[in-house]
Amino acid sequence: MGGLLIALEGIDGSGKSTQAGLLARSINASLTFEPGATHLGIALRSLLLHSAANDLAISTSAEALLMIADRAQDMAENILPALSAGNNVVTDRYSASTIAYQGYGRGIDVNHLQAAIDLATGGLSPALNVLLDLPVSLALERLAGSGKKADRFEEAGVKFLEKVRTGYLSMAAADPSHWMVIDSNAPADQLAANILEQVKSRLEAHL
Ligand code: TMP
Repeated sequence: MGGLLIALEGIDGSGKSTQAGLLARSINASLTFEPGATHLGIALRSLLLHSAANDLAISTSAEALLMIADRAQDMAENILPALSAGNNVVTDRYSASTIAYQGYGRGIDVNHLQAAIDLATGGLSPALNVLLDLPVSLALERLAGSGKKADRFEEAGVKFLEKVRTGYLSMAAADPSHWMVIDSNAPADQLAANILEQVKSRLEAHL
């Protein structure tokens, strides 16, 4: 496997999608995102994020499996082909999102989640997870100001997102060699420069 996988992670409203795009451009990496970066993924994303509007019931374990199915397809169509061609890949969310949202957030057993994630990814984990960390209150303020319609995860509220944030911070603390935590309460251009500098210093030999 030639290239490196770098995942941007964080709660909704952390600025992660903007930063994933900027980072990918700066280091000349392929960019993908989950859920929704394949034809199957577009269908799954719509089911997952707008199920209430569609009057569709989704159990918590079905939700987890659909997220993981999206990942399996993203692996097959986007991530593995790019890595095996020797390109680095930046992904806007990856397996840690499932552990944070479905594990810490919804309360699904993390070992069960990890087994399903391994099926989807063949056990490939990122060289680096970049956590854009922000207090939930600030993230929700940003989302409210963005004018974007809230999806089912944003509507789950403060308590849910607090659990997700705690999950991310616990994963980062438990595995510091694969995680970097960045305070995302900064203007986008400053944040982008900070992320680039820190990613380069961590993965210097490979970029
Ligand atoms: P996005 O807004 O970053 O595109 O992500 C869509 C939502 O999906 C976001 O609220 C987080 C959620 N999500 C999960 O709950 N589990 C997952 O595994 C992934 C990839 C996303």
